[in-house]
Amino acid sequence: MEEKKVSMDKIVNLCKSRGFVFPGSEIYDGFANTWDFGPIGVELKNNIKRAWWKEFVQKDKDTFGVDAAILMNPKVWEASGHVASFGDPKMDCKICKQRFRADTLVEAHSKGSVSAEAMTNEELEAYISEHNIKCPHCGGFSWTPIRKFNPMFITSRGTLEEGADKVYLRPETCQGEYVNFLNVQRTTRAKVPFAIAQIGKSFRNEITPGNFLFRTIEFEQMELQKFCADKDSMAFYEDYKKRAMAFVEGLGLKPEHLRFHDHDKLAHYAKAACDIQYLFPIGWQELNGIHHRGTWDLSRHQEFSGKSMQYTDPFTNEKFIPTVIEYSIGADRLTLALLCEAYDEEKLDNGETRVVMHFKPEIAPYKVAVLPLQKNLNEKALEVLDKLSDYFPCTYDEAGSIGKRYRRQDEIGTPFCVTIDFDTLEKNTVTIRDRDTMQQITIDVKDVAKYVLERI
Ligand code: GAP
Repeated sequence: MEEKKVSMDKIVNLCKSRGFVFPGSEIYDGFANTWDFGPIGVELKNNIKRAWWKEFVQKDKDTFGVDAAILMNPKVWEASGHVASFGDPKMDCKICKQRFRADTLVEAHSKGSVSAEAMTNEELEAYISEHNIKCPHCGGFSWTPIRKFNPMFITSRGTLEEGADKVYLRPETCQGEYVNFLNVQRTTRAKVPFAIAQIGKSFRNEITPGNFLFRTIEFEQMELQKFCADKDSMAFYEDYKKRAMAFVEGLGLKPEHLRFHDHDKLAHYAKAACDIQYLFPIGWQELNGIHHRGTWDLSRHQEFSGKSMQYTDPFTNEKFIPTVIEYSIGADRLTLALLCEAYDEEKLDNGETRVVMHFKPEIAPYKVAVLPLQKNLNEKALEVLDKLSDYFPCTYDEAGSIGKRYRRQDEIGTPFCVTIDFDTLEKNTVTIRDRDTMQQITIDVKDVAKYVLERI
């Protein structure tokens, strides 16, 4: 198995210096575990979200998109179980008063070789004690017992604080899909099996956020729920496992950095659950989940709303609550995985090292950089930029030596650099440099868009 060589620090530094991702509220000394996507990062993340939507919604006639409200009726979260039991096992360090997730402490200490998800609180406490796991913050060893901590962010609705109702920022997007099950079914006239998908922000007051974009308190999820007859549910579960793996491989994650991880402990209503894990610089960690959820979610919403969530089979007239297969992946976490995968340091023939992001052209933030060789070629270069920008996102750089400009584009993963030189004025030709091979060819200006489109 190939080990990842890049450290998280290198990724964070590159992201900051090149405009992928900045620390949130940086001029106020930041706001822990929030990140702002910069000009390059927003292009990258949008391309990833578009690729997901294309694969799972656009190309699937049985999947329909929604964009549900972030603030939902608080009863939704009672029905979903989040109010009563959503929560991670947390422990406080009695010395420095920092709070940690017990399962994360165990997994970090065992470098992922111990699966903490199936351990009871007593087992977690025993493991921490036997292995003398110290506080990652102060190095002390004095823990409180494990307690549950509800990570939902609470806000209030109402003009007067005293009369205000408590509302929650959604901790997952899928509830917007469940509550709209019958709306979507009725308006699209879909027959079970069909799926509802959405991409949107979720919020969790995580106890141990960190590792850059890996675990944050505000993040985007790309989730879909397949509603099906129970007899077909395991076939759809297996199908989504395959499709989810093919999707991340297709975006450029290497198969040797990916693996399935079946959950050891299943919810009482579930028949199966698994993650796809990716080999991040911090070790093997969950990238996405595929969960068999039985009829739990729709049944609970039926119970708490008092509205029937039953589907009537148009052929048999049978009424039933469909079984759900859920596929859920974090857009920020996937962006982080793709940043780690793309990062490379290459030794060049002249002894220098170049940092290059080998993004697949489909997800690269910009497809083309237009570079005038000299200042007096700017006008022509801007004309070429204008034409190419009709087809795909491009960038423009006229500052510094051409070598430096190539390096800057390598660092943000631009697959093609189009250089405008004097031949452009005389013969209407440009050179196109390939990011990965660094080979250059000369082609006519009118053929550039076609050349690039064929390769992205
Ligand atoms: N509706 C199911 C659900 O939310 P989850 O395993 O809690 O399941 C699904 O989350 C995915 O969302 C994860 O696999 C991960 O990619 C992403 N995710 C979850 N919590 C996150 C966080 N705090 N920061 C970034 N991404 C997160």
